[in-house]
Amino acid sequence: TDQSKIRNFSIIAHIDHGKSTLADRLLELCHAVPEREMENQLLDSMDLERERGITIKARAVTIQYDALDGQTYTLNLIDTPGHVDFNYEVSRSLAACEGAILVVDASQGVEAQTLANTYLAIEHDLEIRPVINKIDLPAANPALAKEEVENVIGLEAADAPEISAKMGINIQAVLEDVVHHVPAPQGDPKAPFKALIFDSQYDAYRGVVVYFRVMEGTLTLDQTVRMMASGAEYGLVEIGHLLPTKLEPCKSLSAGEVGYLTASIKNVKDTQVGDTITTVETPAAEPLPGYRPARSMVYCGIYTEDGSKYPDLRDALEKLQLNDASLTFEPETSAALGFGFRCGFLGMLHMEIIQERLEREFDLDLITTLPNVIYEVTKTDGTEVRVDNPHNYPDPSVIAEQREPFVKVSIISPPDYVGNIMPMCQERRGEFKDMQYLDTNLVEIHYHMPLNEIIYDFFDALKARTKGYASLDYEFLDYRASDLVKVDLLLNGEQVDALSFIVHREKAYGRARRICEKLKENIPRQLFEVPVQAAIGGKIIARETVKAMRKDVLAKCYGGDISRKKKLLEKQKEGKKKMRTLGTVQLPTEAFMAVLKLD
Ligand code: GTP
Repeated sequence: TDQSKIRNFSIIAHIDHGKSTLADRLLELCHAVPEREMENQLLDSMDLERERGITIKARAVTIQYDALDGQTYTLNLIDTPGHVDFNYEVSRSLAACEGAILVVDASQGVEAQTLANTYLAIEHDLEIRPVINKIDLPAANPALAKEEVENVIGLEAADAPEISAKMGINIQAVLEDVVHHVPAPQGDPKAPFKALIFDSQYDAYRGVVVYFRVMEGTLTLDQTVRMMASGAEYGLVEIGHLLPTKLEPCKSLSAGEVGYLTASIKNVKDTQVGDTITTVETPAAEPLPGYRPARSMVYCGIYTEDGSKYPDLRDALEKLQLNDASLTFEPETSAALGFGFRCGFLGMLHMEIIQERLEREFDLDLITTLPNVIYEVTKTDGTEVRVDNPHNYPDPSVIAEQREPFVKVSIISPPDYVGNIMPMCQERRGEFKDMQYLDTNLVEIHYHMPLNEIIYDFFDALKARTKGYASLDYEFLDYRASDLVKVDLLLNGEQVDALSFIVHREKAYGRARRICEKLKENIPRQLFEVPVQAAIGGKIIARETVKAMRKDVLAKCYGGDISRKKKLLEKQKEGKKKMRTLGTVQLPTEAFMAVLKLD
């Protein structure tokens, strides 16, 4: 293939600015998909993604574009995930490109992820081409959006195509812009082989399908590939191009091209995103820069409501992991919940997606524990431990120092809401760093904050307090010493391990009191009085009481309505089914849910 006719690019945007819709239009314009087969949002291939309207995993497609200059160009469009949890995958996808289309919604202008993604693209030296989308909307103001792109980001935007991806207006201008302004790749096809993995996917028949961009050299079917980070070697089964509707085998892939390989690989863990592929025949001396193994930020325990479904849960997690190298899990036991798994995720969205897939695709009813971050503890005897389950937190008497993860938070908002945002960050132990005006109607605020304080509901709270105008981005910073305590919960004097949590000392009382109240509301009356207590070490810091039961459930419907009685009886039966006996106390699973959804 003639490299001067190849263009490798991504589309970057703030969530909902129209990235997927534009991608579909580009495919359509290149007749990549017969009209009949044209499904909405082809690049987002998982159902769940489609439903939630987000792109979870990077995908790529190769299309042929007949440009106005009479030449045919090979365009490799590499899709990027649209959420902060997947920032690393975004960075690997960008590293596979020479250019990026920056989609900006003409009615919203520049938002937090517009900036965050642009910065990432700039770091990878990409040629960034702004495109103003949604010009069909009554509220569209393309001129203002362009002004923001110029003032806030500093990109020339006067000639940016003004389009409507939804209506199909002016789409060709986008491809002409790409062909003429995004540089062609320039790798040496004769150099030792080097390719960057930007995605991989498990397929029951082929094993892992690895998606990559060839940076240098040429790959042919008779060669043996080596993954430079893991050291694993494989004889090739198939290599080829990523057409929109199918994988198309070919004989060789060389510098500048994007393609796939299969080699009877069993697990995506052996082909991690960001790793460099080389060959045994023409080995590269150095891997490509930028690889790092996936890192879990958030942990929670996952159990099945029905304890006998534990093996099903294990099978389901194993299946999901085949396709998701960033999901981790280890068996754990809880006195309260039985056998389950401690699972690690990239972030809260990743966690919700996995929980939802377990329930939906594998038909499991789950109980999950409160999510937590990983703590580092130096013990008095000098040993270091990392704690991913609050229940296993060392006793205060053996702790010399304890540290929690901090993140760098960036919030972009109209100046009017700064007065709402700052107290909210302060409350969450945020350390103010700086604030700068990006232009007269947009400020960027930086905080350093404990990850623990933002994983639950920070994003929602931020949206609520800024009428949806502010946007958020964060990345891991470092571990810092902190005054943490472990709070235990006791029902009828017995500790419930699954409800323990770690919290900053100053917040312990407030949180403990709220959880006790919540539990009291959700625990049905029993035959005896049940004290609900929260304790630090042996010391009780909050208490509520569930009064003893006095009447049976039918007592309050004075004869009369038989159907109402039936309903009550059924409800009671239903309730019984879902009870968990914790020592002497019966706790409905809803009570767990209520506590876990607190905050
Ligand atoms: P993520 O995948 O979540 O990052 O979103 P996205 O940027 O891919 O946005 P998507 O293409 O899913 O579009 C978001 C919403 O905007 C959808 O409801 C689209 O129908 C709508 N949309 C996209 N382009 C246009 C447009 O040109 N005009 C109008 N009116 N709506 C559009």
